[in-house]
Amino acid sequence: MSEQALSLTRPEIAAIARRIDRPVVLVGLMGSGKSTVGRRLASLLEVDFIDADEAIEQAAQMSVAEIFSEFGEAYFRDGERRVIARLIDEHHGVIATGGGAFVNPDTRSLILERGIAVWIDCDLDTLVERTARRDTRPLLKDGNPRETLARLRDERAPFYGEAHIRVTSQEGPLHATVQEIIGAIDRWL
Ligand code: S3P
Repeated sequence: MSEQALSLTRPEIAAIARRIDRPVVLVGLMGSGKSTVGRRLASLLEVDFIDADEAIEQAAQMSVAEIFSEFGEAYFRDGERRVIARLIDEHHGVIATGGGAFVNPDTRSLILERGIAVWIDCDLDTLVERTARRDTRPLLKDGNPRETLARLRDERAPFYGEAHIRVTSQEGPLHATVQEIIGAIDRWL
């Protein structure tokens, strides 16, 4: 099917948006495009967008890297769980989560019970290429990023696989991924 044939019109998107009664929560590995896709998705659905990592940084008044280095990953995960719970309570339209959030059992249950979980799956080459664009991610600071991403991809796939919806994002038009998510939400609702 051509991309054109898959395209939803504005009125069709508006009709789907009216049926969405809970936050759309994007999950998936670092570099899968959750924030970029999330902003575009929210704009098409005419709802607000929030990035959970940014909300954590605001609440802590520290960067994610600083939280990891000063307090460790377990502390970060606990704060991440609390912040995501608050964001869900606040009824944001689209929430992008950090790559490890959905691996935490409590955070995962919360998202599955109260949100529409969308896993943005992505091939390894694209993840490596996109994550190389900034050096702020603590889990990619040491070692070989490709090996780390490959390992995390294997370890986390079973958890991400619990999401209500899975879409695949390749290098290429963002538009196609966003349209695919909206179509999948329409079928899932
Ligand atoms: C992490 C992903 C990061 C951030 C933190 C840990 C992970 O978010 O939450 O560095 O465990 O995969 P992004 O997926 O937005 O890069």
